[in-house]
This record gives sequence, structure tokens and C-alpha cells, in this order.
Amino acid sequence: MSKVCINIAWPYANGPIHLGHVAGSLLPPDIFRRYNLLLGNEVLMVGGSDQHGTPITISAEKCGMTPEAYADKYHEINKKAIEDLNIHYFFNKTHCPVHFEVVQDVFKKLMDKGYIYVKETEQYFCPKCNRFLPDRYVEGVCPKCGAEKTRSDQCDSCGTTFEPGDLKEPYCTLCGSTPEIRPTKHFFLKLSAFTDKLIDYVKDKDYWRSNVKTFTQNWLQGEGLTDRAITRDMSWGVPIPIEGWDDKVIYVWFDAVIGYLSASVEYSRQIGKPDYWKEYWQNPDCKHYYFIGKDNIPFHSIIWPAILMGLGDMQLPYDIPANEYLMIGGGKLSKSRGGAIDIPSVLEKYDADVVRYYLSAVMPDTHDSEFTWEDFQTKVNTELVANLGNFFHRSLDFAKKNFGTIPAGEMDPEVTKAIEDVVKEFDDLVGRCDFKKGLKAVMNLSSFGNKYFNDAAPWKLVKEDKDACGKVMHNVLRIVQALSVLSWPYVPAAAEKVWGFLGNEGTIEAAGLGAASKDVVTGQQLNDSVPVFKKLDIPELKEANKPKENKQQEQPKTFTGPFADFRRLDIRVGTIVSVEDHPEAEKLYVLKVNLGEEDGPRQLVTNIKSLFPKDYMMGRRLLVISNLKKAKFRGVESFGMLMAADDETVGGNSVALLKPSTDVPDGTKLNCGLENSSSRIELKQFEAVKIKMSSVVDGKFMGKDIKLPANAPKRVTAIIDGDEIMALGDGKDCVITVDEDSPILDGADVR
Ligand code: MF3
Ligand code: ZN
Repeated sequence: MSKVCINIAWPYANGPIHLGHVAGSLLPPDIFRRYNLLLGNEVLMVGGSDQHGTPITISAEKCGMTPEAYADKYHEINKKAIEDLNIHYFFNKTHCPVHFEVVQDVFKKLMDKGYIYVKETEQYFCPKCNRFLPDRYVEGVCPKCGAEKTRSDQCDSCGTTFEPGDLKEPYCTLCGSTPEIRPTKHFFLKLSAFTDKLIDYVKDKDYWRSNVKTFTQNWLQGEGLTDRAITRDMSWGVPIPIEGWDDKVIYVWFDAVIGYLSASVEYSRQIGKPDYWKEYWQNPDCKHYYFIGKDNIPFHSIIWPAILMGLGDMQLPYDIPANEYLMIGGGKLSKSRGGAIDIPSVLEKYDADVVRYYLSAVMPDTHDSEFTWEDFQTKVNTELVANLGNFFHRSLDFAKKNFGTIPAGEMDPEVTKAIEDVVKEFDDLVGRCDFKKGLKAVMNLSSFGNKYFNDAAPWKLVKEDKDACGKVMHNVLRIVQALSVLSWPYVPAAAEKVWGFLGNEGTIEAAGLGAASKDVVTGQQLNDSVPVFKKLDIPELKEANKPKENKQQEQPKTFTGPFADFRRLDIRVGTIVSVEDHPEAEKLYVLKVNLGEEDGPRQLVTNIKSLFPKDYMMGRRLLVISNLKKAKFRGVESFGMLMAADDETVGGNSVALLKPSTDVPDGTKLNCGLENSSSRIELKQFEAVKIKMSSVVDGKFMGKDIKLPANAPKRVTAIIDGDEIMALGDGKDCVITVDEDSPILDGADVR
């Protein structure tokens, strides 16, 4: 058992993290953490939000917030998004007391040792704004690669870092004018003092990825190391711990890399063992890994090691597996086809495991890779669902139904070998951070499992020779068990479920990598299983790809358009139990409607006061869309919307309230017998659903055949999707109608 320290690049708290962050630097360390836990290693894993620097001050200014409020907002959002992805580590932030303390302490120590000194230097100054302009407040053309709109501290295209004056055609990003260069005093880190030590340090790093090694060696050999300014003319950041420097702060990059150490210290204090961090940072047997994106390479392979060398007695990075970029929609973040790529939005629609699987499969480890929603759907459906998910489910389901417990059987040497080979390959690949290939190895074992199952045809064998079938299934379940262990770093939630379906106790983590090769226990009770991955059907893709005319003929059973939208609605039958005037608004009622919910009737605000008197409303049965996002009307909250048919062609009372045709209980769902969602929806999603009210004449609703229960009233409501219609109802005897005497015309819209 050994100790491993896993460090994760700190995403800027200036927006929600997106799929690029996850594929680049957040998911790989979690796979590696879980792998280490399988080995029984002790892991300290730290990171957090990078809250300082000009990206944040610029964004905060734009939306009129203080940098602190702004950075804290995205810290919370991103912290939750990362947890929701099942990526677990100590997630700190840089604008916090312990971080200030540790950064200032490092600053003073390096200063005492002569590695930090003050120098007069040149800095961009905007004469119009009358201020110094650090970093992103100046943009121009990169002198090396020619990229335009390059910020003044680093080029995003080629990675070169700059000093003031390097950039061509500079302009102030606040007002657009050309900045001057003026003298100012700053603190410098004496990087030049570390050149030889750093050359020595990287010499034996043959195992580094070639992008990291090449980049670092070019820096060290090419230009040699120049001392760099580590303070800036601004007020947002870690204060300089020396009197008389109140108008400047420590540079964001200098403070951020020290975050790895400060987070380790903070964590140690929180668990009540203040020196715990030393077991990792001052332990020559502890390997330190840094998971980052490629634009962060020099800060982790040169500047941070130099700082650590300057401090002395600190572990240097052992490996820095930097990823290339995940390109989205050809570089641009396109939201049109398939939806937004920020993690909170993505997780509203997809399980964390599915996202983790796909991003592992296309991980940009050796070169940039391309993300598209089409590819996401294809890989999930054809690999994750059709291969791994299918193997898990057919095996567990068949075994449970035919045997109930794990059947007896010797270990088939062919299976033993297949498992052992993959375990070895997995260990080797994941151990050196080759996660994409590691996943391939796991999927290969799953393909083997499917083939083994097909070849043995247990569904036939069970009828001819049940014992022989049991022997096959014993070995099939060994593969299932191995796969649940090996897939755990990638798809942890699904893997744990499968582990439980096998009837295993405890966790995969506790069982360890050894459990992958262990025999399964004959006679162990199997649990009922369900498929752990669901096939994706991204509606945006389907609509874009399918010609409209033959949509229904091709797939009559899958609902698209209005039918698909309808399934998002949660419509319930209710009874009005109180009607009151809105205290502020003349035209509004505040209703209480019983929907059979435990926490009492729901409050609804509605604008039909001028149409229906209170005693007409009171006690009436009606239909409520119950999963709309809550809304506020002149200060009163409304938790749903009642449904009515609305006919603008009739004068006067052109609105008819809907009601159920039979005496179903409050809370009855109108899902037409389909499954529907219970998540919150937006008003515009409801408006996309086309529902109409009309009479039924000779079995036809507005000229189209409609299926209705025998006792249906004359007028009903129906959902319309092209040529298909479906009566709105509970899927049994209840359909939706209006008062018999209401003057509303056929064809009225329901809203
Ligand atoms: N915030 C930086 C970025 O997103 C990464 C900082 S990593 C650390 O590029 F080393 F500073 F922590
Ligand atoms: Zn300016």
C-alpha cells in the first residue's frame, strides 16, 4: 500500500464548467483515484476553484457583481456539478483564509531565501482609463504564431507566455485605445536560479507524455529561464504580505499553483490532523500527479517545481498527464443541435455514467478530439448499451430467472485467461494514465462475455441440460463480476449496482482489484436486476435528421414532436378547495387545489376571475399541469396552471374550464397510459404541445379517427401530432371534457 497525491487543475470560477473541462482535467483524475483505491492505495486528492485573476474581474464587471460574489457563485455551481458527476475530491477555493495564509507564507519564505526580489519593470498603462492594465486587460497579436485577440500574458493558440511589450498591436480591452508602457515596481520570482535543477529534474521523466516533455524541454533549452513578475496592479487577489504594497496583489498563477498545497493543509485541518499533508508532501515515497489541460503545462512542469525546489523538502510532480483539447462543434460551443454543454444542463438530461463513459472513450489524451451529440448518442447506444449494458443485463436476468442463486460450476480456463489478460492490461494502462485504452480493454472483455454467452446459448441449454447450463452461467457471472470491478473507475454508479445484483456484500472499493479475478460464490443469492444503462434518443437530433413526411410511418411507436412534448407534462386531476382574490391584482384569483398530495393543497394563481364567479369555481373538479417551474404573479407564488379550452372566435365567455369525465380521485395522472416525466418543465415546453377540444362525430375528432372509452362524453380533448391523435385521459375510462352548456366551439385550443 502506498500513498498517492492527486492534484487537479483549478477551473476558473468564471462560468459553469463544461464537457471540455471534464474530459480534459476533471474526469481523468477521478478514474485514476478509483484505480488507486482498487489497489488499496491511500489517496489525497485536491483542487478547487481558481477565483482570482483578470478573467474573473472582467466577467464580474460585465454583470455588475463584485469579483468575490461572482467567483463564489460559480464556485458553488461547479462544486456541485463535479460532485454530481461522481468525481470526488477536496474541492477548495483560492479566495479563502487558509489559502491566503499558505500563499503568503510561501511568498515570505522564498523572499527570505532570495528567490523573490523587487524590480522596476515596464507595464501596460492606459492613458485614457488612467490605470495599469494587467494580463487580459490588454489584447493584441501573438508575436510567435500571429493569433489575433491574444491576451497579454499567454497565447491560447501556441502556449507562449509573454512579458509586457511582447504583444504586437496591443489595445486596452476596456476602451480600445493603445496602451503605453510605463515603469512600475513588481516582485519577481528568480526562475533563472533553477534552470540547472529543472533540467536535471526532467531528465529521467521518460514516461511523461510527449507533449509535456517536449514543451518543457523547449522552454528550458530554447529561451532559457527568465525571472517573472509575480505581482499585478489590481486589488482582487492575495495581498502581498509586505507593508506598503496595498495597490498590488499576487499574480493569479503564482497563487493558484500554491493552491495544491494550501488545499492539502486546509483538508488536514478539517479532519483534525493538521500535519496530515506532510505525509504526502514531505514523503519521498509519495508520488504526485497533476491532471491539467495542455495550456497549463509550463506552470506545472517548470514554475511550480521551481517554487517547490525553492521551499525545499517538498515532493516534486512525478507525472503531469496533460490532455489536449476536446473540440466542440469545430471549436465553437454550439448549442443548437443537441443542447448546451455546460455540466449542470448536461446532467439534467443524462446520467453521470453515460457522460463519463463517452468522455472516457473520446478522451483527448494524445491529440485533440471532437465532441458531437451525434457521436455521443452513437457511442453510448452501440458500445455502452449494446455491449456492456446488454451483457450485464442478459446475464444477470437469465441467471436470476433460471437459477435464483449462483449455479455451481468449475472455472472455465478460457474465461480465467480472458479475465486475467484484461486485468493485467487494465492495470498496466490505467496505472500509467492511459485511460482511453484502459476502457477499450474493459470493453473487449465485455465483447468476449457476449460471445461466450452467445456461443453457449444457455437459453437452449437450460431446456436440454440444466446442470451444464448452470456451469456456463457460473462462468458468465465471473465475467460480470470482473467487469463490475474493472468498469467501476469509469461508470461507478452502474458498476456498483451490478455488484449488488450479483448478491455481493460491501463495496467494490473494499473488494479491490483482486475481486476481478476471484471466483463467484456458488449458491449466493442473486438479486433482481434492471438494465443499468438506457438507450439515448436525443430528440433534437431526430428532428434535424428525419424528413418530416415519413416520420410517423418509420417509427409509429416512438413519439416525436407534440407527443414527445406531451410526455413531459404532469397533468393531474384536482378539486378546488378555496378561492380568494389576489391581494394586489384585480383580475387574479388565488386558488388552493387538492391534488391528493401529502403536503396539502397547491396554490395556483389564475387570471380567469372576470370569467367565472367564486361559487362556480369552489369545489369544481379541474386539470392542473403540476410540474411547471414555479411562477410569481405580483408577489404571490403559483405552483402550476389549470387547463382550459380557449376559443378566440367566440365573443364573451370564450374560455371553458376542463374537467374529468368520470369520478377519478384527486391526483390521478393524465398520461394517456404512457410513461411521463416528473421533472420541472418550462412554460414554453407546455406551449409546444398541441391539444384541442372538439365534439366527436361518428367516431371522428376533427375529421380523424379517435379511440375513446365506451362511456366518453360528446366533447373531449385530444393531443394532435400530424395525422395522429390521442385522447387526453388517464389511459383507462377517464377522458377530459368541458361543461355541457359551455358556449365554446369545436377546435378550440387547450392551454
Ligand atoms: N485556472 C487555470 C485554468 O483554467 C488553471 C489553474 S491550475 C493551477 O487554466 F495550477 F493554477 F491550479
Ligand atoms: Zn483604456
